[in-house]
Amino acid sequence: MPVQHHYEAYITRTNGPLVLVRIRDLTELRRAEELRADFVANASHELRTPLAAVTGFIDTLRGHAKDDGPARERFLEIMSVEAGRMRRLIEDLLSLTRIELNEHNPPAGEVDVASVVRDAAAVLAPLADEDRISIQIDPCESLKVVGDRDELTQVFQNLIHNAIKYGRSGGEVRIRFGRAEAPSKREGGGQVLVSVQDEGEGIPREAIPRLTERFYRVDVKRSRERGGTGLGLAIVKHILNRHKGRLQIESVPGEGSTFTVSLPAVQTTAEPSV
Ligand SMILES: Nc1ncnc2c1ncn2[C@@H]1O[C@H](COP(=O)(O)OP(=O)(O)OP(=O)(O)O)[C@@H](O)[C@H]1O
Ligand SMILES: [Mg+2]
Repeated sequence: MPVQHHYEAYITRTNGPLVLVRIRDLTELRRAEELRADFVANASHELRTPLAAVTGFIDTLRGHAKDDGPARERFLEIMSVEAGRMRRLIEDLLSLTRIELNEHNPPAGEVDVASVVRDAAAVLAPLADEDRISIQIDPCESLKVVGDRDELTQVFQNLIHNAIKYGRSGGEVRIRFGRAEAPSKREGGGQVLVSVQDEGEGIPREAIPRLTERFYRVDVKRSRERGGTGLGLAIVKHILNRHKGRLQIESVPGEGSTFTVSLPAVQTTAEPSV
């Protein structure tokens, strides 16, 4: 795909026979400006829809539904759902900004990922029950990583929540743990792997690289119906960047998807890291 580049050139005549040319590559700067503008446009659009619904119902309640008790109850219920959507969106936006600001400040704590995963799954169990989905967590002893417990909880809640939302009703969500050797000695204790697998419809191949973009949704209507804002995986990506971790997405349309997180393990040997 062709990429547009932006340059700025300054040409100055010197006293001697030379001409001074200074060229600045503005491509990255322009791209960041475009991304910011897109982000603001998307965020405003996402807020505008529920706001329009709430404003519309306020007018209706002041007008012809004024003395209609049952209609009033129904409209208040919708307004409450829409207000909840706005609240979630604002919370997610703030959370994303906070994580981004902190991204270059690596976490220092030690966290047992297996227990984070079990806690995240327990919180989501009622949602899984509604869809008759059973969450199967493979047995695992402690798996220590360097990280921030709250942020890692957010990662696994987002992934398990997605696996429930986009999984097969009546099916299974399976969580597995593993370890991978460090690619080089420098990387110390190797990687801890956690995969979250569902039996849902899967994700079209061309959509996979875009899933972690803010507001990107394969099926906007379906995501909205389930209260989604399209920010969950963007938050996951930024938290993993901060943790020097990675997210790998595999999917077979019609069969399901697997999201695998890898995180640097806590070094257990006394070997100094070089
Ligand atoms: N397990 C999955 N199976 C199929 N599609 C998925 C899965 N996880 C994510 N997706 C797709 O990726 C999109 C982006 O996911 P993301 O978690 O960022 O947003 P969301 O779930 O729509 O909303 P939010 O997480 O903010 O509530 C989803 O809308 C969905 O289309
Ligand atoms: Mg999500």
